[in-house]
Amino acid sequence: MRTQVVIIGGGPAGLLLSQLLHRDGIETIVLERRSRDHVLSRIRAGVLEWGTVEMLRAAGVGARMDREGFVHDGTYLAAQNRGFRIGFKAATGKPVMVYGQTEVTHDLYAARDAAGGTIIDEAEGVMPHGLDGDAPHVTYVKDGTEHRIDCDFVAGCDGYHGVSRGCIPPGVLRAFERVYPFGWLGVLSETPPVSDELIYANHERGFALCSMRNARLSRYYVQVPLEDRVEAWSDDAFWDELRRRIPGDAADRLVTGPAVEKSIAPLRSFVAEPMRWGRLFLAGDAAHIVPPTGAKGLNLAVGDVHYLHTALAAHYRDGEDAGIETYSERALSRVWKCERFSWWMTTMLHRFPEQSTFDQRMQEAEIAYLETSVAAQTAMAENYVGLPY
Ligand code: APR
Ligand code: PHB
Repeated sequence: MRTQVVIIGGGPAGLLLSQLLHRDGIETIVLERRSRDHVLSRIRAGVLEWGTVEMLRAAGVGARMDREGFVHDGTYLAAQNRGFRIGFKAATGKPVMVYGQTEVTHDLYAARDAAGGTIIDEAEGVMPHGLDGDAPHVTYVKDGTEHRIDCDFVAGCDGYHGVSRGCIPPGVLRAFERVYPFGWLGVLSETPPVSDELIYANHERGFALCSMRNARLSRYYVQVPLEDRVEAWSDDAFWDELRRRIPGDAADRLVTGPAVEKSIAPLRSFVAEPMRWGRLFLAGDAAHIVPPTGAKGLNLAVGDVHYLHTALAAHYRDGEDAGIETYSERALSRVWKCERFSWWMTTMLHRFPEQSTFDQRMQEAEIAYLETSVAAQTAMAENYVGLPY
């Protein structure tokens, strides 16, 4: 087989890249390790930056998002059960869109199928070769048979546990990491959301977040120690803990119900440099991880895809390779700013095991500053709605 770009990974980064390249007449094959059912059953975050919204529309996959998503003009922050609001639209002119990543992935698969795109699922042992030459190829095994695809470029969109990042030689690849000493216990429940906008809460018992998927589906999180096991958290214990950490009026309004999904996720910041090596490009979680506090994971992946798509389009359309040469630098410049924002929100809102009374006062002052300063609110809002590409 031969194609122009082999895309490893059929998550949002890989599918969006495939869809955008298709619209420019560039052929791709997507190789995905898992089954489609598995990919579509993963529950992920749900806030889209405005640039992400515009990219999805430009890719021709925005219709259901525009119908079913919820535009949010701001968010609530809370400290010690007292909340205040930050208006994104007022500060930046832009809102965000609440629409689950699972739905985005679903819409992307539908669009690729409608266009007759090739997505090979349950592809085992995917391995790129010859990335430092000018004729790379990718091998994989499907149903016990080994296949080979020759191509011009390989896009590593295979997430944190993928094979692509490891193809960059150890002497070239640099990794930067912070692992946080806590996790998020998340619950999805078929109940009306407690608030019209998200609530991010700092509390002495730990962070809490009230989010949503739609008018009948809520998503809530509480910070838990890394050692906690999800089986040890009954639904009642979760609701009691959430109620303690959020503002009193929200706690009084909270409608509880059985958890339809419950899981614990660790928090980490991670960046790999460079994001291009020869004819291999990394995009999305393959190159970087953010803690979920700023809702940046999917949005960062979409930013990478923007740079990569424009670089490849210029190569095929005009024979112009400046975009390819500078992909890593341009993507990383935005990635690091979003890493900073996610780290800042995480640090401001969580209880750290080693936190001193001084650290505690710093958090309080940071939140008090945000509550009263238009400049501070604008800085948060411009990051939350998404830095420009
Ligand atoms: N071969 C083929 N596919 C692979 C391989 C491999 N060796 N390793 C991983 N994959 C697939 C995974 O099964 C997954 O479907 O690559 C895909 C990567 O998708 P995601 O992990 O969703 O990563 P990405 O597309 O970069 O999406 C951005 O932002 O909100 C965050 O983590 C969240 O998924 C989200 C991400
Ligand atoms: C979610 O809805 O799952 C969500 C929202 C905002 C975040 C993280 C997760 O910051």
